[in-house]
Amino acid sequence: MSIVIENLSHIYMKGSPFEKVALNDINLRIGEEEFVAIIGPTGSGKSTLVQHFNGLLKPTQGRIIVNDIEVTGSNLKELRRQVGIVFQYPEHQLFEETVYKDIAFGLHKQGLDTKEIDKRIRKTIKMVGLNEDILEKSPFELSGGQKRRVAIAGVLVMNPKILVLDEPTAGLDPKGRDEIFSFILQLYKEMHMTIILVSHSMEDVARLAKRVIVMYKGKIAMDGYPGEVFSKAEQLESMGLSAPQISYLMRKLKKIIPEINENIFTISEAKKEIMKYL
Ligand SMILES: Nc1ncnc2c1ncn2[C@@H]1O[C@H](COP(=O)(O)OP(=O)(O)O)[C@@H](O)[C@H]1O
Ligand SMILES: [Mg+2]
Repeated sequence: MSIVIENLSHIYMKGSPFEKVALNDINLRIGEEEFVAIIGPTGSGKSTLVQHFNGLLKPTQGRIIVNDIEVTGSNLKELRRQVGIVFQYPEHQLFEETVYKDIAFGLHKQGLDTKEIDKRIRKTIKMVGLNEDILEKSPFELSGGQKRRVAIAGVLVMNPKILVLDEPTAGLDPKGRDEIFSFILQLYKEMHMTIILVSHSMEDVARLAKRVIVMYKGKIAMDGYPGEVFSKAEQLESMGLSAPQISYLMRKLKKIIPEINENIFTISEAKKEIMKYL
């Protein structure tokens, strides 16, 4: 399942004194089973862009084509089933008295029978790495990381083909972050979903994504393999971003060990490379 964006612009409060061009003539194609990361400084348009992927925002100009079908007002329902979006701080939308009911919320509207709903919920809670006994708890008894995973389960239970995650680990501790990324990676590998991850963490992006899109002032500034994008550290810095920290260390090591490969962006690759010289 692919997403094609043609000449997309989005202007908030158009025609008012507060008018803000958030996206400026974006062209983009995301193919089937890609794992794409979108990075960019705050306000660069990342959230605005991804909210067009399932029709939550309407383009001021341009077109969105999902699976060869142009998104219009009349096919939004189908589109939302295919493209699941996990917003920033999704746990703020938990409101039912049990985890079970929260995850079931969207399913009831699809007219599935209770047995099918139950099966899907139990499968999904395991997919996000939680135990079934959490289903009868109140979402408010859970830890921050657990709440986040329950909220993501509410999107996953709809069986989307494309999963968009907008800063899914914001505000979590390293353990909570790792738990989320480990099941995201599993979903990508086992369920063959297309994953679009908006993230602040260059370390996580370098480790997980196969393609990195850099947004800057409403435009796509860079688009390539993680190695290509992160090798342009100066350009990233000029946008207020950076390459993964480990790549700066590798550059310093290069001054001491000229033969070392400095084009390394993850800790595990760095470890392998450094070991050769110890
Ligand atoms: N609902 C809104 N109304 C007006 N301006 C908005 C709204 N949402 C975002 N913006 C503005 O649009 C620009 C892009 O925002 P956003 O897509 O949230 O960026 P990012 O997710 O990269 O931080 C910013 O300048 C932001 O202030
Ligand atoms: Mg955002």
